This record gives sequence, C-alpha cells and structure tokens, in this order.
Amino acid sequence: MAVLCCTVLVLLCVFDAASATTIAEMDYGGVPLWINRLLGEPSVMSLQGRLDSSWFRANNPQACPQQCDCPIQWPTALYCDHRGLADIPERLPDRTQYLFLQGNNISSLSSSFLTNITDLRWLILDHNQLQSDMLDQVALQNQTQLCYIFANHNHLTSVPSALPAGLKQLRLAHNQISSISPGAFKNLHKLTLLLLQGNKLQTITEGDLKGLVSLNLLDLSENLFSSVPRHLSPSVQQLYLSNNTLSALDEDSFVGFLNLKYLRLSHCGLQSGGVHRQVFNFSSLVELDLSYNKFKTIPTVPTTLKYLYLEANEIQEFNVTSFCREVGPLSYSRIKILRLDGNKMSYQQLPSEWVFCLRVLESIYI
Ligand SMILES: *[C@@H]1O[C@H](CO)[C@@H](O)[C@H](O)[C@H]1NC(C)=O
Ligand SMILES: *[C@@H]1O[C@H](CO)[C@@H](O)[C@H](O)[C@H]1NC(C)=O
Ligand SMILES: *[C@@H]1O[C@H](CO)[C@@H](O)[C@H](O)[C@H]1NC(C)=O
Ligand SMILES: *[C@@H]1O[C@H](CO)[C@@H](O)[C@H](O)[C@H]1NC(C)=O
Ligand SMILES: *[C@@H]1O[C@H](CO)[C@@H](O)[C@H](O)[C@H]1NC(C)=O
Ligand SMILES: *[C@@H]1O[C@H](CO)[C@@H](O)[C@H](O)[C@H]1NC(C)=O
Repeated sequence: MAVLCCTVLVLLCVFDAASATTIAEMDYGGVPLWINRLLGEPSVMSLQGRLDSSWFRANNPQACPQQCDCPIQWPTALYCDHRGLADIPERLPDRTQYLFLQGNNISSLSSSFLTNITDLRWLILDHNQLQSDMLDQVALQNQTQLCYIFANHNHLTSVPSALPAGLKQLRLAHNQISSISPGAFKNLHKLTLLLLQGNKLQTITEGDLKGLVSLNLLDLSENLFSSVPRHLSPSVQQLYLSNNTLSALDEDSFVGFLNLKYLRLSHCGLQSGGVHRQVFNFSSLVELDLSYNKFKTIPTVPTTLKYLYLEANEIQEFNVTSFCREVGPLSYSRIKILRLDGNKMSYQQLPSEWVFCLRVLESIYI
C-alpha cells in the first residue's frame, strides 16, 4: 500500500509540472472531463514524456503493446497517445476499458481493432487524421459499455452512423463536418453532451437529431449557420451558437426549449433591429451571452435571468423596462452580473430607478 501511495504522489507531482504545456492539446473540446475515481476512471493526462515507459513495463506484469504504456495503478487504461502512430496498435489487451490514442496520425478505424475487447468505456482519438470514408462503422457497434467517444480535431466530414446506444458524450469539435448521416443519433437516447463546434454545418434538418432525448449540452459554435437552426432537441439546457453569422432572431427562434438555461450568442453579428423584442423573454433562462454583437439597445430579458453579458456592443441607452416590466415588492430582476463594458454609455446614463429593479445585482461593468 505504501508503495502504491508513493507512486500516486510521484505521478501527481510530475503531472503538475508538465500540465501547462499540454493543456491546449488536452482540452477535449473545451468541456472538462470529470473523473469518477469510485468507478476506477483513470487520469486523463497523457503519460507521455512524464515517466520512463520502461518503468511501467518493469512494474506491470500484464501484457502491453510495445507502442503504449500500461500504468499499474489503472490496469484497464491503455495510453498510446502522442507517439506518431499511423495505425492503432495490434492486439490491444482484452482488459482495455479506457483507450487513449490522441495526438497520433491515425486516419482509419478498421472493423476488427476492438475484436477481443468487450468492455471499452472511453475511446479518445482527439488530434488525429480520421477521415469519414475510412471509418468502418461496425467497429464500434458491439461496444455496449462505450460511453465517451472523443474525436475533436480530426478530418471528419460527417457525423458517423452506427454509434453504440449507450453513448453519453460525443465530442467532434474542429472537424470539417458538413452533414449528419441519416439516423446517426436515432438510438442515442442516453447522449447528454454533443460537441460540434468548429465545423461546417449550415443547417439541421428535421430527422437529424432525432433520438437525442437526453441531450443537455449542444455546442454548435463556429459553424456556418445563418439562422438559429430548427429541429434541435427540446431537452437542451445549454445551447452554444457563438461565432455563426446570424442575420436575425425571430419571435419563435427559441420556442419549445422549455429547459434552456444557458444560451451563448456572442460574435454573431446580431443587431437590435433584427432581433425580436420577445425572443429572450422565457423564464427558464439563467445566463445569456450576447457579447461582441451590434446591439444598440438592451433587449428584453426575463426577470429570472441571473447573468447577462452585453460587452462590446453599441449600446447607448439603459431602459429599465428591458429588465423590469414593473417594479414592486415581488417584481424585480434577479440579475447578479451585468456586463455593459465596451459600449457607448456611462454610469451617468443609468436612470435613477434602476436600483429598485436590479435589486440583487452583485457586479455591473460599464
Ligand atoms: C483476438 O484474440 C485471438 C485469440 O487470442 C487472436 O488470435 C487475435 O489476433 C486477436 N485479435 C485482435 C485484433 O487482437
Ligand atoms: C500522417 O499520415 C499522412 C497520411 O496517412 C501522411 O501523409 C503523413 O506523412 C503522416 N505524418 C506523419 C508525421 O507521420
Ligand atoms: C458483433 O457481435 C456479433 C455477434 O456476437 C458478431 O457476429 C460480430 O462479428 C461482432 N462485430 C464485430 C465488429 O466485432
Ligand atoms: C469566436 O471568435 C472570436 C474572434 O475570432 C474568438 O476570439 C472566440 O474565441 C470565438 N469563440 C468561440 C466560442 O468560438
Ligand atoms: C415576458 O414574459 C412574461 C411572462 O411570460 C410576460 O408576463 C411579459 O409580459 C413579457 N414581457 C413583455 C415585455 O412582453
Ligand atoms: C423605455 O421603453 C419603453 C417601452 O419600450 C418606452 O415606453 C419608454 O418610453 C422608454 N423609456 C425611455 C426613457 O426611453
């Protein structure tokens, strides 16, 4: 036991020192990966260059492919990341549950690379050269335990089909995806997180996201949408659409999203004239990011909103009715943080009654 504790300590220290340099490559699409130690989930940090791989070999009697590291403290994890591999190593150990292949030069997935593995849980393929026409779709079909597939920063042109039904997270940010294979999501009832930012999507058609009944976070930032896509999953709580050039927001752009709490629309070229007054007036909303647009007035927001980001717009006036339709003992705005910096107004322009409306404000930036 003592020996094991020391090992963990040593690893933690080494991780700390090296973490700064690898953070960009290990961002997993920008959403942190929370590790559940109770389930035996391993460290998500690369082991490459941190400890001599012969050390692992000397300390772990289990079979381990030559190109990979098999740390003894996570016997089901296989670290084959950042080694310039053009192919997935042959004969992966049957025990593998957590497979790290990021930072290689892998372009294809064969139908057989997981043949002897029945319990795969994570498949991490970020920063490779994966191509849609070189993925054998049946490869993943039998992996009933597979819950995370990460393939950010690859060369995929479409969302793969035949993904296993137990999937909880699919991260495909920064590819060249312009289409979603028909029925790609039809069995993914457990998927909660879908990252598609930094792709080339222009539209979402009616059947595209069908099946995603548990989807919570959907990131569609930095695509080629020219309006808020229709046919998104009504279960979504966090919707990110920043860095699309949206011409307008209609009254019903977000109708049907009864659970929508966090909405990001920064860098979208939005102008006050093209945005319907009522479009954000729905009571589930907690955080709204409208920074780096061309708003001249503050849009109407629900009194339940807590965080409003409007920095770097062209706002010239502050009208209390944007936040409070009326002011009374129970009618006031729940805004805690309001950013108005980088606009065309100053503190002096705040009308005197604003303090009665923004009663629980913690920070205002002008
Ligand atoms: C699967 O296991 C069989 C029997 O041990 C072995 O012959 C075969 O090469 C393995 N396949 C892979 C892809 O590891
Ligand atoms: C990566 O793979 C591509 C195509 O398979 C090849 O042209 C390129 O030379 C490889 N790069 C490295 C660094 O191995
Ligand atoms: C999936 O499982 C079926 C039935 O066990 C088997 O016939 C098939 O070869 C498996 N597919 C792969 C890619 O391992
Ligand atoms: C949007 O674009 C800006 C400017 O290019 C960039 O600074 C920002 O990080 C981008 N944000 C997202 C979420 O893509
Ligand atoms: C915003 O929505 C609330 C609740 O649905 C409604 O009472 C209010 O009149 C709306 N605001 C405006 C400015 O119409
Ligand atoms: C604030 O907006 C309301 C509703 O649009 C309008 O009736 C009122 O005149 C505005 N107040 C000022 C000071 O511009």
